[in-house]
Amino acid sequence: MASLTIRKLDDAIKAELRLRAAQHGRSVEDEVRNILREAAGAGAISGGTPFRTATYPDRSTSSQNAGNLRATLIIGGGIAAYKALDLIRRLKDNGFAVRCVLTNAAQQFVTALAASALSNQRCYTDLFDSASEFDAGHIRLARDCDLIVVAPATADLMAKMAQGHADDLATAILLATDRPVLLAPAMNPLMWANAATRRNVAQLQRDGIKMIGPNSGTMAEAGEAGVGRMSEPLEIAARALEVVRPPSAGPLMGKRILITAGPTHEPIDPVRYIANRSSGKQGFAIAAAAREAGAEVTLVTGPVGLNDPAGVTVKRVESARDMLSEVEAALPADVAIFAAAVADWRVANRGEQKIKKTASGFPQLDLVENPDILATIAHRTERRPPLVIGFAAETEHLLDNARSKLARKGCDWIVANDVSPATGIMGGDRNTVHLISKDDGATDGVRVDSWPAMGKDEVATHLVAQIAAALQKGAS
Ligand code: CTP
Repeated sequence: MASLTIRKLDDAIKAELRLRAAQHGRSVEDEVRNILREAAGAGAISGGTPFRTATYPDRSTSSQNAGNLRATLIIGGGIAAYKALDLIRRLKDNGFAVRCVLTNAAQQFVTALAASALSNQRCYTDLFDSASEFDAGHIRLARDCDLIVVAPATADLMAKMAQGHADDLATAILLATDRPVLLAPAMNPLMWANAATRRNVAQLQRDGIKMIGPNSGTMAEAGEAGVGRMSEPLEIAARALEVVRPPSAGPLMGKRILITAGPTHEPIDPVRYIANRSSGKQGFAIAAAAREAGAEVTLVTGPVGLNDPAGVTVKRVESARDMLSEVEAALPADVAIFAAAVADWRVANRGEQKIKKTASGFPQLDLVENPDILATIAHRTERRPPLVIGFAAETEHLLDNARSKLARKGCDWIVANDVSPATGIMGGDRNTVHLISKDDGATDGVRVDSWPAMGKDEVATHLVAQIAAALQKGAS
């Protein structure tokens, strides 16, 4: 049999062959052999099917159950496009079948081949595509899905959307859709801060477009940092799921919950600070559980290495004083939960410059007390949340200290936990807590409910259930 020289095929066929081969995990030569084998068996090569894909749930079978969801992912042209490839996988993990559309600019960063291979679906790039299996491709891609995700959403793409342009496949889909649209903006911080982008963002928000991020951090451009990094694929995929399946009418629907988490950092000089070992895990878990229960959640957190929980408004701060101002700005709330390990003191005489070693001895650090955020909010006469919950992190006399904290801080409940190093609670994933609440029926006016050791997520779910029950009773 004569050998087949793939090099001599035209570019479109070569591209298609590479795509099929990648999808089937074969070399191009093996793919060609397979096609010929199939053709010999079937009698003819079908001209209508460009390549075999995984099934894409059709409208009649698609319900908004995980595993049967459909997303059209528009990949814009920015360096963050490489993260969109990971996003395909994350969306699939969350139960979405994904069809990708690449803008011309996106194709400078990632290939249609990679997007197709990862999504197991044909990838679309052209508005006028004679090879498209759809009659009017952009209409099908705009409507034959539960959600459109744009990642990265570049400044240019957002400007075109705000103006209603439709001069390429991506913008035509976005103009033709009646599905929810989720943008994950990514651009240089100066572009994000530019007045034109601000106007476009405001317009898109008015138009009901949903957004996630951008986050702050370092940029691809050397030495640049600020707000403009695309949200992480995991965060985007979680938000995508939430957009198509908003929290059902959970027990905290319509309630505003404010939570503090993590440590605070109190500067000694521009490069040093006082901190503690809090990981923020318990506060983040409570925020996620409250959101899951339908609440509108604001999480004010000190520096931690955790991703924003989906659907939660996160305010990141450094010091105790910054935390207090963000907490006050987030009022009113129905419930405030203070899980942060706030530094009790800050340095009064912090160095404006890095403190240097000298021969004359050690620097003297003068400490002053930080505001007590929990006590400040619990003692408010105006806009005091009806239910104020503190944590008591103790290393000895747990219950006695927690009871006196309940009285001293003026809160309604205290979640007490033993944080001595042997427990592994600080920074770990498990927690053993006692819920101490005011109880007029009890002899000493306090009720203690001891929970078994459990994961921090379970503690969070349990606490949220207790909160929901208390709110339902209309009393703390
Ligand atoms: N807390 C706060 N602001 C502070 C200190 C503590 O909001 N400046 C809150 C914590 O978030 C927690 C509760 O108060 O909900 C108790 O914190 P904890 O560190 O256990 O107690 P302290 O107030 O620091 O008291 P002590 O140092 O005596 O244990």
